Amino acid sequence: MSKQWATWSKATAIALAAAASCGSVMAQEKIKVGFMLPFSGTYAALGVAIENGFRMQVAEQGGKLGGREIEYFKVDDESDPAKATDNVNRLIKRDKVDVIVGTVHSGVAMAMAKAAKESGTVLIVPNAGADAVTGPMCAPNIFRSSFSNWQTAYPMGVVAAKEGKKNAMTITWKYAAGEEAVAGMKEGFEKNGGKVSKQLTLPFPNVEFQALLTEIAAAKPDAVFSFFAGAGAVKFVKDYHASGLSKTIPLYGPGFLTDGTLEAQGEAAQGMLTTLHYADELGTPRDKTFRTNYAKNYKLQPDVYAVQGYDAAQMLAVGLKAAGGDITKKDVFRTAIEKATIASPRGDFTLSKAHNPVQDIYLRKVDGKENKKISIAIKGLADPARGCRM
Ligand code: BEZ
Repeated sequence: MSKQWATWSKATAIALAAAASCGSVMAQEKIKVGFMLPFSGTYAALGVAIENGFRMQVAEQGGKLGGREIEYFKVDDESDPAKATDNVNRLIKRDKVDVIVGTVHSGVAMAMAKAAKESGTVLIVPNAGADAVTGPMCAPNIFRSSFSNWQTAYPMGVVAAKEGKKNAMTITWKYAAGEEAVAGMKEGFEKNGGKVSKQLTLPFPNVEFQALLTEIAAAKPDAVFSFFAGAGAVKFVKDYHASGLSKTIPLYGPGFLTDGTLEAQGEAAQGMLTTLHYADELGTPRDKTFRTNYAKNYKLQPDVYAVQGYDAAQMLAVGLKAAGGDITKKDVFRTAIEKATIASPRGDFTLSKAHNPVQDIYLRKVDGKENKKISIAIKGLADPARGCRM
């Protein structure tokens, strides 16, 4: 054997051994998942449901995704956009997480998307519908397992017009989610012959609705469209009912108005029509199993937020599996998620080019403690992803 060949073989053997041991070190290291969610304030229950759904999917996969165990980090974002950049940097810079899962509030999500874009950290958004996240801020490392604000509201506008409503007023919190939901509903409503006559707002998370309800009563529109969620939705639907308005003016909205809230809303929500990408008891085997397991694990009925958390973990699992557990294989990770069909409790969905679910939007009616599916308002609806260049 020549001296040169012997030196090369020895070097190759050392390199191969190092690579093998590096591979096994990677397999032993846990994937760090950072939850940035609201665990306090008006959206607290939504954050908990998302975490529950995510953890349940991981447990169903035997506690590992792509062969890697998961280590969790948590930040309560308080649904406060002013604290969002510091909070997300705690996960990125201090905890050095591999993946961020968050959040609920659109304003907070925009700061997270900016930080994820700059750092290259994978971000899976399990609720916040900010249109910009899969619009101008879209990026190869940003994915959404939920919806865009436009996507859940546009169909309600179409439905309201089909119900024969001509003149609607809107009422919502003054921040991206409310404003974009109103814009989406207006687009669907006015394209189909309706007219939005007045748009009322109040600051997030204010729940002093009385003056605005008085204004609605005086104007007597054919319908009212509103975006509220969590504890704010409970209070709004109850106040609307208590004011007597529900007897004469139907209250419509994206399904956040009545999802995860019916226990508290009781009588006040009965008969309400909403549009959303999930409904209670869809009746498919996939949904039945999900609902049974969730009720067993958490002694609670699941809602749309639990589904979105569950599907965020399914998306992460697909990417990690393809990348052999190595999230630094960014292109493999991303392409696998882009090509996947996610078997969600809501029904199968794929992702658009901008990484937002393309999904059926259901028309639901409140009956007892359930948002029952009446029909599919729009099948396979994709967000227009205005401004996304990817
Ligand atoms: C949002 O801020 O995007 C949002 C919050 C709660 C429910 C739905 C959307």
